[in-house]
Amino acid sequence: MRVLGIETSCDDTSLALVESGRRVLASRISSQVATHSPYGGVVPELAARDHLSALPGMLAPMLAEAGASLSGVDGVAAVYGPGLLGSLLVGLAAGKALALGLGRPFLGVNHLQAHLFANFIHTPDLEFPFLGLVVSGGHTLLLDVPGPGEFRVLGRTIDDAAGEVLDKIARLAGLPFPGGKYVEQQAATGDPKAVALPRPVARTRPLDFSFSGLKTAAALALERGGHSLPDLMASLQQAVIDCIAVRVEKALRSTGRRRLAMAGGVTANRRLLQELERKAGAQGVRVYCPPPLLCTDNAAMVASLAYFRLARGERSPLDLNASAQLAPDVA
Ligand code: KG4
Ligand code: ZN
Repeated sequence: MRVLGIETSCDDTSLALVESGRRVLASRISSQVATHSPYGGVVPELAARDHLSALPGMLAPMLAEAGASLSGVDGVAAVYGPGLLGSLLVGLAAGKALALGLGRPFLGVNHLQAHLFANFIHTPDLEFPFLGLVVSGGHTLLLDVPGPGEFRVLGRTIDDAAGEVLDKIARLAGLPFPGGKYVEQQAATGDPKAVALPRPVARTRPLDFSFSGLKTAAALALERGGHSLPDLMASLQQAVIDCIAVRVEKALRSTGRRRLAMAGGVTANRRLLQELERKAGAQGVRVYCPPPLLCTDNAAMVASLAYFRLARGERSPLDLNASAQLAPDVA
């Protein structure tokens, strides 16, 4: 089954054609970084407008790259939340229109759940059940995933997302947007113990995350000065990694899962991957992490998740609406 996936939840316009949920025939990602860079963050209205102009022109080249035609598409899937409302509406309307015109089934997909399915593309032997870790610019989430379409939230951030903290401090330090990868670059030559930064604990559930205290402390340390940028960024990166790793270890212990699948833009951070491989490996757990291009937003992950659900006969009605605040465990 070949599924056409569409991803427009934030600031990347992406289209992909994926065979049987695991083999990417073609994938296109059009970045809006140039549009948003001058503002130091994504401007929702500009993002929606950019999707609207970029998406139609991406379809034919993507199909040509796949050596496929529209008649060879067996199903269409688009992200319907969570994300920026205007951005979501563009991809969702395009997906519905394509499905309707082709007479093929349509499925609306949860962006957060889709992130984890990048692992099915990258590692053909990944099977259910697994512990899912989604760390992006908008979310920091631990999910138990017993099967396709089954998601139980174990922990989530009660304030900022990990990526948001990295992006904010990077911006204050004058690094380009989005800052996560520049933090990693700076950190490569820094000392992670140079600046004392907190590892805040959420006062809600034990596996919940809290990052706002770390963000404030890092911003103050930057303002005070006295440390090199590599030292500050290495210390910040280590604090974020520690916050994540300690909860992953706990979640693995409490669920007894033997597989950890990571996803989301921040998991492009190779230091985070190394640390989790070391810690989870010590618990006998195998760690799955996609290559950086599949960690960040892409439509192949959308098509992959949709394949598993379409194959079970699931369909979305054509009146499905976009949901900016869609909960992580809603299919
Ligand atoms: O998943 P994603 O592409 O978009 C959202 O759904 O948010 O994640 C974007 C986030 C940004 O905060 C970006 O700075 C961060 O992922 N990021 C990284 C790295 N590459 C991207 N963070 C740390 N290290 C990286 N190498
Ligand atoms: Zn994302």
